[in-house]
Amino acid sequence: MSKDAFTLTRPDGKSMSLPVLKGTIGPDVIDIGQLYKDQGVFTFDPGFVATGSCKSDITFIDGDEGVLLYRGYPVEQLAKHSSFIEVAYLLLYGDLPDKDQLAAFDTSIRRHTMLNEGMLRFFNGFRYDAHPMAMLSAVVGSMSAYYHDTMNVNDTAQHDIFTHRILAKLPTIAAAAYKLTAGQPFIYPRNDLNYTENMLHMFFAVPAEPYEINSIAAQALDLLFILHADHEQNCSTSTVRMAGSSGANPYSAIAAGIAALWGPAHGGANEAVLRMLEQIGDAKNIPKFVARAKDKSDPFRLMGFGHRVYKNFDPRATIIREMCHKVLAQMGRTDTPLLDLAIKLEEFALKDEYFIEKDLYPNVDFYSGIIYKALGIPTSMFTVMFAIGRTVGWVAHWREMITDPAARISRPRQLYTGPKNRDYVALEKR
Ligand code: SDX
Repeated sequence: MSKDAFTLTRPDGKSMSLPVLKGTIGPDVIDIGQLYKDQGVFTFDPGFVATGSCKSDITFIDGDEGVLLYRGYPVEQLAKHSSFIEVAYLLLYGDLPDKDQLAAFDTSIRRHTMLNEGMLRFFNGFRYDAHPMAMLSAVVGSMSAYYHDTMNVNDTAQHDIFTHRILAKLPTIAAAAYKLTAGQPFIYPRNDLNYTENMLHMFFAVPAEPYEINSIAAQALDLLFILHADHEQNCSTSTVRMAGSSGANPYSAIAAGIAALWGPAHGGANEAVLRMLEQIGDAKNIPKFVARAKDKSDPFRLMGFGHRVYKNFDPRATIIREMCHKVLAQMGRTDTPLLDLAIKLEEFALKDEYFIEKDLYPNVDFYSGIIYKALGIPTSMFTVMFAIGRTVGWVAHWREMITDPAARISRPRQLYTGPKNRDYVALEKR
């Protein structure tokens, strides 16, 4: 990284030089590491709107241009030519694998899909109506109670075992959560199936009859996992980095990321979009709901719209919208009320001054739920599907952070606005 400098001038006229660091592409950053020591002040940026928390080689987003690159490869090209397992390798190891590397990686993932039988017993303890994300975060966190051979974050030899184990077991845990909500028996993974086929098998097979993998569904899910795989320093990835920065074991760091993803402002939005579309019900109600989304006194927001970084179309939403048409048509769905409503809502919102002025466009969550629903996945499982795709991104960032010699525990400061120093008042005098 080459360096220039910003000059910061204090109210009293004194100034200090703040180094500027340059990446390979994208905005420069101002290094404020010495600011407090030299000037006795902090920066202030709630929500980290303009704050870079780390340097990273993994994913680049240009929000103005609607660009998303995984290790430099445009997501559109990976969506067209790659597979989720190959993209997972790329995100983790930095380059596209050759044939032998891909085969070895795929085989290792296939051979780590089973859970410790003790973990399956957790599912007997959850209420029948437990939210699948509650079960996912609980059972992923419990992995640190089983896999003691991969808890030493400083032993890089353990990183690959942890990585392959958690990538392989996420769909199995997700499927067990789904089976509990469906009241059906757990289906064991099959090593002869690829990542996405195996997931469909564990979700939808039943002991009573043979299950035939739907190739359209497998292709659609594989593409959705590619599109959800990583997104630089989003809320859940930053949570994984923050939790991992204390040296906590990697399973707990990933469980923290799952908890953060669940929020409706983040990964929980795909579930919220479907519920919103069902609440809108008919195109004639669109103006009323868009008006509510613009009304500051109304907490309602147009779920699946807006983004902290994208001030243009989210490239993933564009790909998924095109996929909706293809998947629904291939599945013989001629009657597509939810998709038709979503498209009308998008058209209406994108013509509205408020959405234009605030650069609010559909994001990755706006259309994904329509495909999940068409594949027979219940709405409560949508964010779990997001987590399955995003786990490889979380793991790639955890590995990058934990192996960075400059990495330190994340510990932000604050602007204190509470009471000044005051003396204790005895109870009888209050
Ligand atoms: C994901 O960070 C990532 O990369 C996330 C993600 C990933 O891959 O990891 O891309 C996945 O989380 C996508 C986002 C899913 N969330 C939703 O769809 C929920 C609805 N969207 C909003 O809650 C909101 O747009 C956020 C949370 C996505 C972004 O919030 P910001 O960046 O803090 O923006 P903001 O809330 O400050 O909004 C700016 C303005 C505000 O109005 P003003 O205060 O300036 O008058 O736009 C308004 C907001 O009220 N606004 C909306 C809106 N989103 C923003 N108004 C109505 N409906 C919306 N959806």
